[in-house]
Amino acid sequence: MRLAGARVLVTGASSGIGAATALELSARGARLVLSGRDQEALADVAARTGGEMLPADLSDPSADLAVRAGRVDVLVACAGEGWSGPLARMSGGTAERMIAVNLTAHVQLTRLLLPGMLERGRGHLVYVASIAGVVGVREEAVYAATKAGLLAFAESLRYELPAVDGNGVGVTAVVPGVVDTPFFARRGRPYTRRRPAPVAPERVARAIAVAVERDRAEVYVPAWLRLPARLHGAAPGAFRVLARRFSP
Ligand SMILES: NC(=O)c1ccc[n+]([C@@H]2O[C@H](COP(=O)([O-])OP(=O)(O)OC[C@H]3O[C@@H](n4cnc5c(N)ncnc54)[C@H](OP(=O)(O)O)[C@@H]3O)[C@@H](O)[C@H]2O)c1
Repeated sequence: MRLAGARVLVTGASSGIGAATALELSARGARLVLSGRDQEALADVAARTGGEMLPADLSDPSADLAVRAGRVDVLVACAGEGWSGPLARMSGGTAERMIAVNLTAHVQLTRLLLPGMLERGRGHLVYVASIAGVVGVREEAVYAATKAGLLAFAESLRYELPAVDGNGVGVTAVVPGVVDTPFFARRGRPYTRRRPAPVAPERVARAIAVAVERDRAEVYVPAWLRLPARLHGAAPGAFRVLARRFSP
């Protein structure tokens, strides 16, 4: 799909991967609709991209983001929150909130934006998931479950929306590993490991732009992350032994 001239709604556009994606897509000629809660940060991205601001709290099920967004050719579903720690110590409401923001809000947005894309015979849906959703991560069970949900959602939609002669509605699942953004500080547990080294959000942003342009079903960032994902799929028992041995 050509990004030049396409109207792209990016959730989570006020920070990290979403902000970097907005800048990358704008450089490729896309017209941006930027969503997030932090209006000052959104205004900064809007000033740098010429994008339109659409503030919304995605944990609020009444947020009428799809209606306010109007015509959308490409959805980049990037907003997300994390939480790390033993499940038994998670406070009430945290799981519901993460499921609402990471998964439910993007399912609903897709449901509401898809009819317009189908009518126009053109569109692309991008879901920013996580390697946590593929292999599971200790003390991130709910976060991983929301990302696994997004991956299954994308995979299933892809069957439902076959591309026709380069047209139609494409679907991309993005699977980042560790990315250098405020995500870890905000979830309350900073990333302190040396390996794997965090990648820059701009790298994920470039991968998203290329995936839309070339209709890629799935992109891992960095690309080597596909290997642990394959090992987990092919030999889950061996993967678990290694994960237990190497997880901190
Ligand atoms: N960083 C990583 O290592 C990593 C790895 C794999 C996947 N991911 C995924 O990548 C996506 C982007 O994360 P990031 O690393 O760029 O983190 P980030 O810098 O913390 O950005 C998170 C974005 O989500 C938005 N957001 C959070 N809660 C929201 C809510 N209730 N309503 C509306 N917007 C909300 C934030 O908006 P405000 O700031 O305006 O509230 C912000 O724009 C997330 O889905 C995350 O799960 C990140």
